[in-house]
Amino acid sequence: MPSNLPAEQSPNQFLWPATAERDAAGRLRLGGCDAVDLLARFGSPLYVLDEATLRRAARAYRETLLAHYPPGAHVLYASKALCVQAVLALVAQEGLGVDVVSEGELETALAAGLPAGSLVMQGNNKPDAELERGLRAGVGRVNVDNPDELGRVAAIARRLGTRAPILLRVAPGIEAHTHEFIRTGQEDSKFGFDIKSGQLDAAGAFIAANADALDFFGLQAHIGSQIFEVSAYEETARVMVRLSAEFSRRHGLAIRELDLGGGLGIPYEPTDDPPAIEAVVEALAKSVLAECAGAGLAPPRLVLEPGRSIVGPAGVTLYTVGDRKAIEGVRTYVAVDGGMADNPRPITYGARYQAELANRDGASGAPERVTIAGRYCESGDVLIPEIDLPSPEAGDVLAVPSSGAYTYAMASQYNRVPRAAMVLVSEGAAEVIVARETLADLYRLDRLPDRLRPGGAPCPRS
Ligand code: LLP
Repeated sequence: MPSNLPAEQSPNQFLWPATAERDAAGRLRLGGCDAVDLLARFGSPLYVLDEATLRRAARAYRETLLAHYPPGAHVLYASKALCVQAVLALVAQEGLGVDVVSEGELETALAAGLPAGSLVMQGNNKPDAELERGLRAGVGRVNVDNPDELGRVAAIARRLGTRAPILLRVAPGIEAHTHEFIRTGQEDSKFGFDIKSGQLDAAGAFIAANADALDFFGLQAHIGSQIFEVSAYEETARVMVRLSAEFSRRHGLAIRELDLGGGLGIPYEPTDDPPAIEAVVEALAKSVLAECAGAGLAPPRLVLEPGRSIVGPAGVTLYTVGDRKAIEGVRTYVAVDGGMADNPRPITYGARYQAELANRDGASGAPERVTIAGRYCESGDVLIPEIDLPSPEAGDVLAVPSSGAYTYAMASQYNRVPRAAMVLVSEGAAEVIVARETLADLYRLDRLPDRLRPGGAPCPRS
């Protein structure tokens, strides 16, 4: 693990948060807090989020964009990566807006005190009630996903006597090299207006004819997630500027904004080598400006929507080691008190994670190759298929880095295990930002009909 991250380096190039360090006794510290103490105070397993790393990533996006692009360029945090109020408040303090894909994310942001105008509604098949709620609240933009939704947005805006501020999401036909479940830019995608079949052109005509209800700002694309190639972003910039210029000419609609999505990757394994936030943002800004000059388009306001690269590297999940099972000549399973419910990424995408013991360092025992198993009732519930650790024993604390994004956000209550708490660490202080679920929370929504209560009315006979 690196000791404190050098100031010039980007948080999305490191497995561990910027403040991760070992003390003289070899114990892991995060945000100036002893990791083992955190578990003792807040329970296990525990999501830990390092405020300094998160802020640094948010700042890297905003400052690089403002340094390389005309004023007005803007960063939205894609809240699907981790949508909890404290995180939204932190990114808002750093000057970012927030992208929301459901009424739940929208209400979380409003409840955290974010101005509605800083929120952008995204996603496919947004229900009418959600669109209405967003438009009434005064969201900054609605990124319209498909022709049906465009008609619905226009009808709702007209009914409300307002003009919906919209962008159109397009499928630009770019194949990003990432897991097929999180690839979104290709033509065969459930997201975005298709270009070849004329869907986008028809949308242009529709917008021009419904300008009383639709306030058109521009186009959006998002090509996928966990992307490591700067060239994929440059290609997106080129394609989208050309498309914007052509769309504007054909339909007489000004292009005021260009939203190029999120997707920058982070390392999960030591061999992962994503480009720095600063490098990608600078390359994107330059490509857009160069392409605009060539296409005769005034540079539109540039918008980016990162999620993982802001919150992922800030997160470390702490588990307590439990039982071991050695199978002679096969493998040794070491089980922890969490797994697929608090981090569904390994079982869903085959995602690989690293880990270290938090209560002692690598020199404290002979390296032993083990399989880190979860506690959930499925054979596939393996957090890390193979890792060398210094002879992990019951009671040790396992720390899994780069786990701030799409972990709690995708967590479940599978096997009726309460979801873990989350703490924010900064300069030696730890604050709970998500309380641990209680056992009573688990069955709070169950309803037990009287006739099914032990000793209740007998079942009716058929
Ligand atoms: N914008 C749009 C329209 C998106 O669909 C997404 C992610 C983002 C921005 C943010 O992408 P990011 O910067 O976080 O890569 N659950 C998966 C990732 C799904 C991503 C969905 N969309 C995982 O755990 O890898």
